[in-house]
Amino acid sequence: MSQFNLILLGPPGAGKGTQAGRIVAEYGIPHISTGDILRSAVKNQTQMGLEAKKYMDAGELVPDSVVIGIVKDRLQEPDTAKGFLMDGFPRTIPQAQALDAGLDDLGRAVTKTLVLLADEELLVARLTGRRICRSCQAPFHVLFNLPKAEGVCDVCDGELYQRDDDTEATVRNRLEVYRNQTEPLIGYYDEAGVVARIDGTQAPEKTYEDIRMALGPAGA
Ligand code: AP5
Ligand code: MG
Ligand code: ZN
Repeated sequence: MSQFNLILLGPPGAGKGTQAGRIVAEYGIPHISTGDILRSAVKNQTQMGLEAKKYMDAGELVPDSVVIGIVKDRLQEPDTAKGFLMDGFPRTIPQAQALDAGLDDLGRAVTKTLVLLADEELLVARLTGRRICRSCQAPFHVLFNLPKAEGVCDVCDGELYQRDDDTEATVRNRLEVYRNQTEPLIGYYDEAGVVARIDGTQAPEKTYEDIRMALGPAGA
């Protein structure tokens, strides 16, 4: 079976969003970031967005029922038929079980979980210097990944901004939440035999080379 039903797992700042852009461009699958979907709901001040903002600003997880609902709806879209790249989902064991059950109903399963690894002080430096495009969500960094023109997205000319949850105190809490609630998913997917561990401390293009090796050719 040649489906790319992929998960990008890893702590905040490991480079999930950065690598997701490259993966979806080459493999032709949709990028499903629950963080991006939630931030869009916050921006549009929907009921869900107003509820989610409290958790996001504190660096806590939004309740499972909310994010599971988002992903179930998203997987109904026809563009997911050939595969998908989950970024930031699942983040808890119940979310992983819900995804497995939903895919099983469709006769599908997760084909690879890419785990991006990096140590905590590097993650803090990456997140506190990050800037994001308001239009296409592409991530940049004030030191490590400068846009060509200051404050402007290389991809779409959108305006760059700093995420509300990228302050040092919130970043530290997000890292603790990751350790407690999300890291156990590595063992969950190890049991399914689908994990590829990737060194996320390398330059972005090096990290992407390792990801391509783990995934194999796009046309396979
Ligand atoms: P989410 O948006 O998913 O954030 P996150 O997991 O905290 O991860 P980040 O987006 O911060 O990091 P990233 O790995 O994408 O790194 P990036 O590529 O940008 O979630 C936010 C919040 O939403 C959560 O706290 C929660 O409240 C809620 N939420 C979302 N999903 C949920 C779920 N499933 N359940 C419950 N709640 C949920 O890179 C970071 C920086 O480093 C950038 O500046 C980048 O330019 C730079 N960089 C990246 N790679 C490199 C490199 N190789 N070398 C140098 N610099 C690099
Ligand atoms: Mg991200
Ligand atoms: Zn952009």
